[in-house]
Amino acid sequence: MKKSDGKTRGMADKPFDDHRRAFMRTTALAAGLLSAGIAPFALAAKGGNSGNGGGGQTARNPLRIPPTIAPGGAALTAAPASVNLGGGKLSSVLAYNGFFPGPTFRANSGDAADIAFTNGLSAETTIHWHGMIVPPAADGHPMDAVMPGAGYAYRFPVAQRACLNWYHPHPHMKTGEQVALGLAGAFIVNDAEEAALNLPSGLYEVPLILRDADFDNSGNLSYTAKSSGFLGKTPLVNGTLSPKLQVDTAIYRFRVLNGANARVFRLALSNGAPLVVIGNDGGLLDTAPAPVAEIELSPGERLDILVDFRGLAVGDKLMLRCLSAGWDLLEFAVARAVTVAGEIPAGALSTITPLADPVLTREFSFDGMSRINGKVYDMHRIDFQVPLDQTERWRFKTGGNAPHPVHVHGASFQVVSRTGGRGRVLPWERGWKDTVLLLDGETVDVLIRFEAYRGLYVMHCHKLEHEDMGMMANFEVI
Ligand code: C2O
Ligand code: CU
Ligand code: CU
Repeated sequence: MKKSDGKTRGMADKPFDDHRRAFMRTTALAAGLLSAGIAPFALAAKGGNSGNGGGGQTARNPLRIPPTIAPGGAALTAAPASVNLGGGKLSSVLAYNGFFPGPTFRANSGDAADIAFTNGLSAETTIHWHGMIVPPAADGHPMDAVMPGAGYAYRFPVAQRACLNWYHPHPHMKTGEQVALGLAGAFIVNDAEEAALNLPSGLYEVPLILRDADFDNSGNLSYTAKSSGFLGKTPLVNGTLSPKLQVDTAIYRFRVLNGANARVFRLALSNGAPLVVIGNDGGLLDTAPAPVAEIELSPGERLDILVDFRGLAVGDKLMLRCLSAGWDLLEFAVARAVTVAGEIPAGALSTITPLADPVLTREFSFDGMSRINGKVYDMHRIDFQVPLDQTERWRFKTGGNAPHPVHVHGASFQVVSRTGGRGRVLPWERGWKDTVLLLDGETVDVLIRFEAYRGLYVMHCHKLEHEDMGMMANFEVI
């Protein structure tokens, strides 16, 4: 296998009101299900036999947890694979090292990543380390395409704070297909500030990669590009169909990624209990934990949440649901009563210096399904230049056809305002972000500052079909 080295080239949100409203909505949904003759088993937090076979549901499958690897001296191959999504039948997918989702990288801030990648696909690809601040040559830019049978060394220092990032292909006009067919994995960074909080760990820290999928008649993953965005008919969590997780009566930390091409999930627990937000794309919030009843999470966004199962009894069941699709994403079945030390932290979770005093404002209008500021992406055109170490305000607007989850490579940003639409910065959008959801009618302002590397990066809509059709721009940090 030929390997080419990396080239050098230049609570303020009234959680308990929210909670009650969500509960009422859930109840209304239950009424709807009842009138449709379907038992609302997802709503039964108590009552043992509801999760398995109740309401005509199929048996639930144990949630798959991808294996963990270190990024120093790792080897990663993208290739077709046959995997069991839970029902016992094998499905053809595209996988990293045979795993769907790919192995979870786990590193400490300060480690070095040196990942020897081999492209075992029949098409060109790249790997982008979404959320990782890496040199341009390791960022998976479509110009750095790795041909079938070839390799590429992704080398970068893991220099950032603790957070959940992820990796996925980023080839020219083929990102949507390769991601939908299975290529994605988590990349977790740990640091000392996070360790000092003694957050739930080991069995009590669980990655949840959410997505939707379509299948062909033989049960293989299938993909049809659609300019409005690919919306699969079936939810998968960690590549598992109808998953369940047996839990202890303890606090769990869920590291959630929306790995779908286009679907915005509206997450909530079936018993109305809060999701306690402690972090997002760029790591821990600088506020206290924020309990919220529901969370809108768009493609590319991450969440760090705590769920407290301590008040439940063995045999209790509840669901993580998507309220917009009406899906039961993941069943939690309380299997063991334990007493584990540890509380939900009370104070601010981390320290973040707010960006301030932008020297200029750049406006980006996400137009139609394929343009930013009127232009379709051209791999060879540099759309703008940004000086290193300069704080700027970037204003994201939409000309329609949202949701547009706006994502920027090369730096994280801070969301400072949203006007129109939802009209505020939501609790899970505080701190550092690299992807922010823009709905029609909304204008979102962020502050951003590139401090790490000069060179070529992209920003784009993370609805992957919009990205593939050209809703992407090249910029150069100078
Ligand atoms: Cu997750 Cu440029 O993408
Ligand atoms: Cu990215
Ligand atoms: Cu878009």
